[in-house]
Amino acid sequence: MALRKIRIMGDEILTKVCRPVDRMTPRTQTLIEDMLDTMYDANGVGLAAPQVGILKRIVVIDIGEGPLVMVNPEIIEREGEQTGQEGCLSLPGQAGVVTRPNYVKARAFDLQMQPFEVEGEGLLARAICHELDHLNGIMYVRFVEGELFDVSGEEEDEEEEIDEKEGNEA
Ligand code: NI
Repeated sequence: MALRKIRIMGDEILTKVCRPVDRMTPRTQTLIEDMLDTMYDANGVGLAAPQVGILKRIVVIDIGEGPLVMVNPEIIEREGEQTGQEGCLSLPGQAGVVTRPNYVKARAFDLQMQPFEVEGEGLLARAICHELDHLNGIMYVRFVEGELFDVSGEEEDEEEEIDEKEGNEA
């Protein structure tokens, strides 16, 4: 398991357009494994390669249904609308309200560079849109309706609840 450093908004690399992957190499496979490790370690639902400083069109997503690796992903269908809270590992402790399609169909390549399609609704659709934006140098803050808000306290609350369940005094 290898963790990579997550770049924080303000880092110029997060504004760059990523290059397509033309072939899978051991180096790229390692990058993908590290991206998954880094995403799980940070309790994120998605991570894009530029967030670990690599300008390649690769994203990893897991909304709790297992890992989804997407190389050179493209959204080919969008339907409906959802408005909800969104955050990003590159802007820790903050969130904002963003409207996204409620359904997307995307095409991508897997770890063996085999093409596949994936359909997502709700959170998965939101995660696919959010992560693919990173590949074009776009942060979700561009789409936020109203102000960003602080959610760093919510994580602490969750930890306190867990402590209470376990009978520990904080
Ligand atoms: Ni993000």
